[in-house]
Amino acid sequence: MTETLTIALSKGRILEESLPLLAHAGIAPLDHPDTSRKLVLDTSDAAVKLVILRATDVPTYVEYGAADVGVAGKDVLLEHGGEGLYEPLDLGIARCRMMVAGFPGANAGRGKVRVATKFVNIARRYFAEQGRQVETIKLYGSMELAPMAGLSDLIVDLVDTGNTLRANGLEPLEHVAEISARLIVNKAAMKMKHRRIKAFTQCLAGAVGKRAA
Ligand code: ATP
Ligand code: PRP
Repeated sequence: MTETLTIALSKGRILEESLPLLAHAGIAPLDHPDTSRKLVLDTSDAAVKLVILRATDVPTYVEYGAADVGVAGKDVLLEHGGEGLYEPLDLGIARCRMMVAGFPGANAGRGKVRVATKFVNIARRYFAEQGRQVETIKLYGSMELAPMAGLSDLIVDLVDTGNTLRANGLEPLEHVAEISARLIVNKAAMKMKHRRIKAFTQCLAGAVGKRAA
């Protein structure tokens, strides 16, 4: 019997950059995810479905087995905690860096600083490892506004071109982590659907290799 596969993806960057990799594995959504309002999409492979989620919900769906596999940014995985998942493949897409940023010369060394971020767990861990005392403030977006508005001294956010920081008078100050999207796999599914998931992972790895070549 054909083993079914449910793949969790998030709209936007991850979906856009994952579709060519999935195509290499013979998987193409039948409805276009950007125009369809469906959250479960059938694909060209009758045994494969895509579920379209918020980026931060992808690890949760995969961890609990509501999806067998998924694609999630390393930022989301570091924030979520990766213990409940396998992470067999770096897909090399949605590349950026997690940075501490602030106004030029913003000094994190003096007294207790306030750090605004969507990534409070990553930020706390990063500053704690350095023995620096910070107060983290949880935001859900537009982190670059926080120093200008006097909400925080620093932010921890994703940086690619640096355009968003520059446009708001900020600069990258410290490198926290290199980020790219990863294939994640539910632990039970890895056992129960081993052949299917192994073949799928190998196809994706081939596509990643071709992309890099
Ligand atoms: P949501 O809109 O649901 O809050 P999001 O804004 O994090 O999620 P995207 O902006 O599509 O969703 O980002 C998805 C992933 O892409 C992030 O988790 C990160 O790994 C990566 N990413 C985010 N910003 C950039 C960027 N500027 N350049 C490259 N990759 C990025
Ligand atoms: C991400 C991130 C930064 C920006 C960095 O936001 O949160 O704001 O990209 O990219 P840059 O260095 O190339 O300017 P995104 O574009 O995903 O917007 P969103 O978080 O509001 O979805």
